[in-house]
Amino acid sequence: MFQPDLYAGQRILITGGGTGLGLAMARKLASLGAEIHLCGRRLDVVEAAAAQLKADFGAAAFAHALDIRSPEAVQQTIEDLWQNHGPLTALVNNAAGNFVSRTEDLSVNGFHAISDIVFRGTFYVTQAVGRQWIAQRLPGAVLSIVVTWVDTGAPFVVPSAMSKAGLDAMTKSLAVEWGPKGIRCNAIAPGVIPTQGASSRLRPGIQGNEDSAARRQADNPMRRLGTGEDIGNLAAFILAPGNGWLNGQTITLDGGDALANGAYFTEYQRWGDEDWARAKQQAISANQP
Ligand code: HXC
Repeated sequence: MFQPDLYAGQRILITGGGTGLGLAMARKLASLGAEIHLCGRRLDVVEAAAAQLKADFGAAAFAHALDIRSPEAVQQTIEDLWQNHGPLTALVNNAAGNFVSRTEDLSVNGFHAISDIVFRGTFYVTQAVGRQWIAQRLPGAVLSIVVTWVDTGAPFVVPSAMSKAGLDAMTKSLAVEWGPKGIRCNAIAPGVIPTQGASSRLRPGIQGNEDSAARRQADNPMRRLGTGEDIGNLAAFILAPGNGWLNGQTITLDGGDALANGAYFTEYQRWGDEDWARAKQQAISANQP
């Protein structure tokens, strides 16, 4: 689909890039010649992912331990990256956190656990990178990963739905504000692309839910779920040098699922107290190292 050296000379930071969708996008961009910087909370995970990118693609790949919930840590990491490696050419806002819960059961900390990562943390990184680009009069490109819920809302993941809608608004707002400075901002709204991180927290195997993946596949107009290759290809298209007029867009990548089936998780309306207790337990055990 792409010229093999399309990304030569590009330096891209991917937040939460050690696993899941972030790593899938990293693999595609590395395979096309980009220098990749991965950041995540667990240094061992991002280091292993960077080593894999080197081994598989001969890519220049670097790992940074970073919790994007800390604005000070974000600022320091961006400054260090600029100083030690040079200016970024693109940023992929991929880091996220989520779990399913009845909204009335959420604690304040539970709400913050999601919104501090997705809503606030993504802003801190975007602002820190944007400031560098603006101060040095450099062009740049931001790609944020949202979800089709920005259009439909989503029951049982309200902190995520609110936060991702905020990122969609950030994308559109900054496209206009920073466009004249040569900084493009776009987003991908993926449908179901199974990853271990998301499945363990959003689709725990509970009564009535065992066939959830199979059903979503059958209901999808393309009769399949998404893959890392799908999102890698779209990310590579959106960020491609030469794609300079694509700005302020949130592109849905779901095989037409949202058009056909609308909001996710409506089946959880049927869950009782026991199902919710088990879902929480399974999600929390997914957090154990
Ligand atoms: C209810 C929960 C909970 C759960 C945590 N909490 N998990 N409440 N149900 N399943 C509550 C805790 O009880 C606590 O509140 C508060 O949240 C903070 O919990 P911590 O474990 O201390 O949080 P933390 O270590 O910061 O972990 C953040 C996390 C975790 C978001 C909870 O899941 C995580 O690190 N996730 C990162 C990876 C991830 O989520 N990937 C999936 C992304 S999918 P109290 O009151 O008890 O102190 C996605 C959208 C995909 O983003 C869309 C696909 C269609």
